[in-house]
Amino acid sequence: METIIFGGGRLGTAIAAALRERGESAPTIVGRPDRAHPDDRMRIAKRTPADVAFECSRGDAAALDAGVRRLVIATTAWSSDRPAVERLLRDRGAAAVGSANFSLGMHLFGRLVDRAVELFGPLADFDPYLVEWHRAAKPDRPSGTARELALRIVAAHPRKRRIADPARPGSADPAELELAVVRAGASPGVHTVGFDAPGETVELRITARDRSAYAAGAIAAADWLCEARRPPGIHDFDRVVDGLLGPAPRLVAVG
Ligand SMILES: NC(=O)c1ccc[n+]([C@@H]2O[C@H](COP(=O)([O-])OP(=O)(O)OC[C@H]3O[C@@H](n4cnc5c(N)ncnc54)[C@H](OP(=O)(O)O)[C@@H]3O)[C@@H](O)[C@H]2O)c1
Repeated sequence: METIIFGGGRLGTAIAAALRERGESAPTIVGRPDRAHPDDRMRIAKRTPADVAFECSRGDAAALDAGVRRLVIATTAWSSDRPAVERLLRDRGAAAVGSANFSLGMHLFGRLVDRAVELFGPLADFDPYLVEWHRAAKPDRPSGTARELALRIVAAHPRKRRIADPARPGSADPAELELAVVRAGASPGVHTVGFDAPGETVELRITARDRSAYAAGAIAAADWLCEARRPPGIHDFDRVVDGLLGPAPRLVAVG
């Protein structure tokens, strides 16, 4: 698989390392454009006959303009541009997998959270909450992943209607899902979903150690794009995860 990576930061280099580890040829990494030569990204992309492009910097159309028709979009904070990106991909006949979080563990964690909301939601004693903790320097708060988890809980929970504003603590509105943000130290990411009742607390927690989990998921998405012709547009990472899990086990009646 020939690859090009837009963004030579922590995620881009983690993907490059994981590709090299499994014996792929070294990817071309395109960093921040030089102010004096703003078209360099495009020129480098055009020179690189890539099967797949990984976008790990900020969303732009350089890969599409250069003719790449399979994209893994790992960059975050572009959801408001999603309709325009979707249109562009369809116009160019290109397929992308886009996700704010390419960790396989996080996707399965989301499914565990769905199940936990299903179990605890009907029990009025169990109040759900979400806490996310990232390194002190992380600029966005809450994280995109925390926001997605919170939306998922609110969508399925019988008593929670909206997410509490993390900047306004202690609103005590029972219809709001409490979401707390911690920015301290060097943590690459901890997300905790809890259900608290007067006599006990149940917590689900996922802790990222480094970016290798995101790299593995991004490469799985690239493999998924390459293994069959996918329809143009943006595909959810859930499709890739379903493919990795294989068919659900069938229940067989015994006796
Ligand atoms: N989907 C996922 O699973 C996942 C996981 C982790 C991170 N992310 C997202 O992926 C992106 C990159 O994360 P990271 O941890 O690698 O960040 P990072 O270490 O800060 O790297 C960002 C890279 O983008 C480049 N860049 C910055 N501004 C740019 C611009 N205007 N045009 C083109 N390139 C630019 C940076 O260049 P310089 O080095 O010159 O600044 C750097 O190479 C972020 O959006 C992050 O939120 C997604």
